[in-house]
Amino acid sequence: MTDALLVETRKAAAAAWWRQAAVYQIYPRSFADANGDGIGDIPGILSRVDYLRDLGIDAVWLSPFYPSALADGGYDVADYRNVDPRLGTLEDFDAMVRALHARGIRVVVDIVPNHTSDLHEWFQEALDAGRGSAARERYIFREGRGENGELPPTDWVSVFGGPAWERVEDGQWYFHNFATEQPDLNWDSREVREDFLKTLRFWSDRGVDGFRIDVAHMLTKDLTEPLPSRAELELIPQDGKHPLIDRDDVHEIYAEWRRVFDEYDPPRTAVAEAWVSTPERRARYASAEGLGQAFNFDLLVADFDAAQFRSIIAENLAQSKMSGSSTTWVLSNHDVTRHATRYGLPALNGRPVKQGTEWVAAGGPESRLDRDGGRRRAHAATLMLLGLPGSTYLYQGEELGLHEVAEIAPEQRQDPAFFRGGEFDGLGRDGCRVPLPWTASGASFGFGSGAAHLPQPAWFAEYAVDAEAADPSSTLSLYREALRLRHLLQAGESLEWVDTGSDDVLRFVRPNGWQIVTNFGVVPFDLGADAEHVALANVEVEGGLLPGEATAWIAPEGLNPGR
Ligand code: NOJ
Ligand code: CA
Repeated sequence: MTDALLVETRKAAAAAWWRQAAVYQIYPRSFADANGDGIGDIPGILSRVDYLRDLGIDAVWLSPFYPSALADGGYDVADYRNVDPRLGTLEDFDAMVRALHARGIRVVVDIVPNHTSDLHEWFQEALDAGRGSAARERYIFREGRGENGELPPTDWVSVFGGPAWERVEDGQWYFHNFATEQPDLNWDSREVREDFLKTLRFWSDRGVDGFRIDVAHMLTKDLTEPLPSRAELELIPQDGKHPLIDRDDVHEIYAEWRRVFDEYDPPRTAVAEAWVSTPERRARYASAEGLGQAFNFDLLVADFDAAQFRSIIAENLAQSKMSGSSTTWVLSNHDVTRHATRYGLPALNGRPVKQGTEWVAAGGPESRLDRDGGRRRAHAATLMLLGLPGSTYLYQGEELGLHEVAEIAPEQRQDPAFFRGGEFDGLGRDGCRVPLPWTASGASFGFGSGAAHLPQPAWFAEYAVDAEAADPSSTLSLYREALRLRHLLQAGESLEWVDTGSDDVLRFVRPNGWQIVTNFGVVPFDLGADAEHVALANVEVEGGLLPGEATAWIAPEGLNPGR
C-alpha cells in the first residue's frame, strides 16, 4: 500500500467511527457533582473519565450543559455557545474533551434547534420590541382569536400537555411545542439559520466530534392562515406536508449543516432525534447528505418478546441499507422509564401499565414490579443489542442495572411533563434522571458531598459503582466484558438469522463467525456443541443449556477471546 493510500484508508476509518460505536449518554446534572452543590457538573465528568474508559464505550453524548433555567432539564437553552456557570466554564469543557480524547473516547453534544429558552436574549428582545418587529420574526408570534384576541390562535396542545400558545403582555401569542418556557424558533428566518451554523462551528472548533439533534423533525412549519384546528391537524397525513411535523423542507437545513460538518477532518457526525411515521421517512434524516444517522426508538415501545425484536431488527437493518447509514439501538434514555423496570412490569407494548389512577412504573404498587426478573430480561436484551450491527446508545446508570426511581414526592419533581400532565408515562421523567450512586455509602452515594438535586432511594446502595466493580456477577461487570468483546465482533455491518426451531429463541451470526443467541422464553434452549464456545452470557450456561431470559455470545471456533 502506498503512503497516500494508507493515509486515505486511515482517514476513512476515522470518519466512520460512529457506524458501530457504543455511545454512552451522560445527563450532566445527574452524573457526578464535583463541588457539592447537588448538581452534576463538567469537573464531575472530568473526575470520572477513567470510569468511562474502563467501561469500554467509544463515545459519550452529553445532554445539554448550556446556561438554562431548567424549565425542561436543560432543553431550554438560554445561550447555545456557553456552559451553565453552575456546571463549569468553557475551559472546564475543553479540559474534559481533552481528557476523553486522550482515552480514545469521542464527544457528542446536544443541539436544541426547535426552541430556545424564554430567557434567551433573542426572546427577551422579542418581548421588548413588540408586535411587527424583526425580533419577533425569529419566533412564531400571532394575534389571538376572539373579539379582543383573547383566545389562542388555535386550540393546539403542547407535547407536555396544556395549550401550545402563550399570551404576552401586549396581547400577541407565541407558539411553543413543548413547555411555555420553550418558544419555538422560526426557521424561515435566515438569521436563525446562520446562528445555528455558528453554533455548530463553535463546538466543532472546540474538538467536539458529533451532535445529537433534538426534535430534528419539527423545525420547519407551514403556518399559513387559516390554521387547522387540533382535530383537523390530527387527520393530516405526516407525509412531508404536515404543517408541523416531518416536513420535506426540513432537509434543506440539514443539507446546509452537512456542508459545515464536512469542513472538518474527520467530518463531524450527527444523529437525529426524529419521531416520524415510517422507517422510510426516518431514513431521510440518516442520509449522507443530511445528518447521517437517526435514532430508532422502536424498542422503546416493544415488549421483551422474540417476534417483536426480530421484526424491529429486520426492518431497521433494511432501512439502514436504504439510507446508507448504520442502524441505531436504544433501550433507555432520559425520556423513558428505564428498561429494567419496563421489563419487570406487566407488558403493554413496553410501556408501564396504569392501575386505577397510578402508573405502576413510578409510585405504583411495589408488588407489581419484578425487580430481579426485570433486570435479568434487561441484561438479555442489552447483550443482544450489543451484538447487533450498528451503533448502540446506552444511558447512564443502565450499566448498573438501575431501576426507575418511584419514590419522588410531587414537590420534589422537576419534569414539566409531570406538572402539565403530558406524555411520558404519566409521572414524567424524573425517575430515570436521579443522580448516579458511585459509592454504597456516604452523602448522595458518592455523587457529591451534599444532597443530590433529586432524592436517591436507599436501595441505590446495592447498585453503587464501587459495589458492582468489585463483583464479577454485577451488571457493571457484564457491561464491561460485553463492551470489551464487542470490539472483536463488530466487523461488517450485517447478520444472518439462524433457524432455532423455537418461537422464543433468536439466533444470528455475524460475518466473522460470532453468534448471538437470545432466549426470550422460559424453556431452556439447547446450544449443542456451541455451548463450549460461549464467551459471554448473562446467566450460567450449564449442561449445554441456555436458560430462559438469557443471551449468549458464542465465539467463532479457534478464537480465544480471553483477556
Ligand atoms: C427531546 C428531549 O430528549 C427531551 O428531553 C426534551 O424534553 C424535548 N426534546 C424538548 O426539547
Ligand atoms: Ca455541582
